[in-house]
Amino acid sequence: MSSVRTILGVTVRTPAKVNLELRVGPLRDHGYHDLSTVFHAVDLTDNVTVSEAGDWGCTVVGPYADNVPTDASNLAVQAARMVYERYGFTGTAHITIDKSIPVAGGMAGGSADGAAALVGVDALLDAGLSKQELQSLAAELGSDVPFALFGGTALGSGRGEQLAPILTQGRTEWVFALRHEGLSTPAVYAECDRLRGTAPVSTPEPSQSLMAALRAGDVHGIARCLRNDLQDAAFSLMPDLEQTLDLGLDNGALGGIVSGSGPTVAFLCAGRADALELMVVLAASKSCDEVVRATGPAHGAHVVHDVRMS
Ligand code: C5P
Repeated sequence: MSSVRTILGVTVRTPAKVNLELRVGPLRDHGYHDLSTVFHAVDLTDNVTVSEAGDWGCTVVGPYADNVPTDASNLAVQAARMVYERYGFTGTAHITIDKSIPVAGGMAGGSADGAAALVGVDALLDAGLSKQELQSLAAELGSDVPFALFGGTALGSGRGEQLAPILTQGRTEWVFALRHEGLSTPAVYAECDRLRGTAPVSTPEPSQSLMAALRAGDVHGIARCLRNDLQDAAFSLMPDLEQTLDLGLDNGALGGIVSGSGPTVAFLCAGRADALELMVVLAASKSCDEVVRATGPAHGAHVVHDVRMS
């Protein structure tokens, strides 16, 4: 005999991202820039637990908890409330974020939590939302949120929210040099516009060489193609990032890049041994506040645990 099993809480694991390529086109009237970007998910993850509760609430734990808002500005809270309100569910939920993705680091940590909350609430309420519905809610929440649902490696266009999967082979090994002080994404885009001045900006197109390198699993080729049009703006706002990048490139990294809007600097390595050696050099240099290692590609936001009552 089958019994009805009510879910009381759901934990969703959700990945950070690095942009292997971030080409920034013109600023449009809606306040966003046209992008052509290659997102790559890495296994530096947050765990987001959504549980039934008597009132809305949010708790953040883990190494970066202090810098995360727990009010309505938190994307996970916004995401959860959005599902309840749009689909007419009554009740409220508590969200607990176990945070390992750096905050304001250019790795889409807040977006990852937003995506996780969508997946978590969908499971908690047994709402049965389609992939398209989840993607569309995610796009409303922010430009990077849809990719956190998607995971893997994907081409982003529009403002970054329109995604197409990219065929890849093999795994990538990364070292990330982190800063405690974050950079504001809008400020970095604004600095990019300021540095460009009145020069014409062309429509951004993906690099075919990068696509070929990803298809072949050619890590040296990927390293040669790393490109971020926001990098000069991040350097302009935080000049010593350039030394961090040079240090990594002089100490065994195949390639390096500012991750998204920064200030995290991402280094692509040939393998685990090189990554570990580079971590030691970066940590000893004091040119960053913390060093972590991760591999890609990683899965998009997915349920890892649920608690049920029969
Ligand atoms: O979409 P999201 O809220 O994450 O974007 C944060 C900010 O980043 C935007 O308000 C905008 O200033 C900038 N942005 C942009 N062009 C994009 C994506 C983000 O200018 N394609």
